[in-house]
Amino acid sequence: MINMDRRSFIQTSVLNLGALALGARPFFARPALQGQAPQQPAQGPVLNPSQPGGSAREITLVAEAVAFEIPTRGVFQKWLYNGQYPGPEIRVREGERLRLTVRNNLLEGTTIHWHGIPLPNAMDGVPDVTQPAIPPGGTFQYEFDAAPSGSFLYHSHFGLQPDRGLVGRLIIEEKNSHVAYDREYSLVLTDFLAGPPALLGRVQNASGGMVAMQVPPYLVLLINGRPSEAPTVFEVKSGEKVRLRLINPSGTTIYRFAIGGHPLVISHADGRPIEPYHVDSLFIGPGERYDVIVEAKNPGAWPIAASPDNDLPPARAVLRYTDSNDLRPKEGALPEGLSTGRMLHIGDVRGLDVPESRKPDRTFNFTLAGGSIGPISTMSEAGVTSKEIMGPQWTINGQAYPNASPMEIHHGESIRIRLTNQSAMPHPMHLHGHFFRVGNTLKDTTIVWTGARAVELDFVANNPGSWLFHCHNLYHMESGMVRLLKYV
Ligand code: C2O
Ligand code: CU
Repeated sequence: MINMDRRSFIQTSVLNLGALALGARPFFARPALQGQAPQQPAQGPVLNPSQPGGSAREITLVAEAVAFEIPTRGVFQKWLYNGQYPGPEIRVREGERLRLTVRNNLLEGTTIHWHGIPLPNAMDGVPDVTQPAIPPGGTFQYEFDAAPSGSFLYHSHFGLQPDRGLVGRLIIEEKNSHVAYDREYSLVLTDFLAGPPALLGRVQNASGGMVAMQVPPYLVLLINGRPSEAPTVFEVKSGEKVRLRLINPSGTTIYRFAIGGHPLVISHADGRPIEPYHVDSLFIGPGERYDVIVEAKNPGAWPIAASPDNDLPPARAVLRYTDSNDLRPKEGALPEGLSTGRMLHIGDVRGLDVPESRKPDRTFNFTLAGGSIGPISTMSEAGVTSKEIMGPQWTINGQAYPNASPMEIHHGESIRIRLTNQSAMPHPMHLHGHFFRVGNTLKDTTIVWTGARAVELDFVANNPGSWLFHCHNLYHMESGMVRLLKYV
């Protein structure tokens, strides 16, 4: 079933170079940074052009409709950045200035949001909130300092465009890492639609009744754009420590991630350094990132798998020791960590750069709800109202954005958002422009599980502007689970 050997893998990588972005250098020519291993072939092409000292790093991203091949699955019409899926990896060093020119060759508007990086508001890429959408045929220049370090992602923030394929990863390398490693890879987990995305409506269930559709008809789950039958192979040597950057720009899918024969030591949550935390598996929701260190001391070929919260088979890749004769894991083998062992509890994680907590000056108590069809009674903050909603509608305190009151705050205040989930689905909630404290660590996206105790997100209002706070399930976001955070 898994049929990719090293030679066919390298061929694929070389073929991919045909789709290289303007100005990008082939990944194998990239010099090793001090104390870090060079990019490995499984990484794919990296946008990291050589740069005369001092000036900004120039990168061009072209959003366009292209035919894209998923090995063993066929060719699909997608909207991609520079013809790649996921989009080209952007990799810079902490503190470098980035100048990203986005050209829109699509037939509708677009923007790019640099997810997780606390940018000046005008660079945040939210249409109608921080900039007008870039019109078809137009360009826009984003420019900012790459800081802080971490694993981030970038994606269109225009409607359901991320599920067209407009997603990618942005790595800001730290000057000094608190964890040692010999090589690194990034793993982008995506749920892949064969056709264009559409808002979810109603479907008939087995007994003929109408129910709200909750998951789009994804075809397959991918790791770095490849399905389990033709998986990405990540090569290691015995004795090495490998840093894996797990990045989830999926439309809706929350994964449980594990690697056969290898525990994971989590070193970063949403790019922020944490005290190394040992697990056998972790959950990663849309918008989240975890960096893990894996010690290569169990030679062989092992399954890497990400098991979804939907009915699709897990996304898979391969961890292969080059000093072992095994080329692939046993047919159908899944990591034992997907069913047993220690799991990540975000409340136990200790961040390394967490500021002193302050008593909140202002608290927003939010109830996340919705998902049913037909009439749902909605309670607005101004009083009780009721209205007929025909698709699944997702609400915060009964309000569906854009018909929702903004969260008005003042510069310098310490803010708490207290979230309770009264719906039947988990919500990966994301705040633009700020890291928040959740438990004892800093994040920018965190899953609020069904029926869980209230989750408190604390942050200091230190980045003026208008920002989104929303569920990173694209369909929940597009069906109302959004609030505007507004400095007044
Ligand atoms: Cu990746 Cu508004 O988010
Ligand atoms: Cu949600």
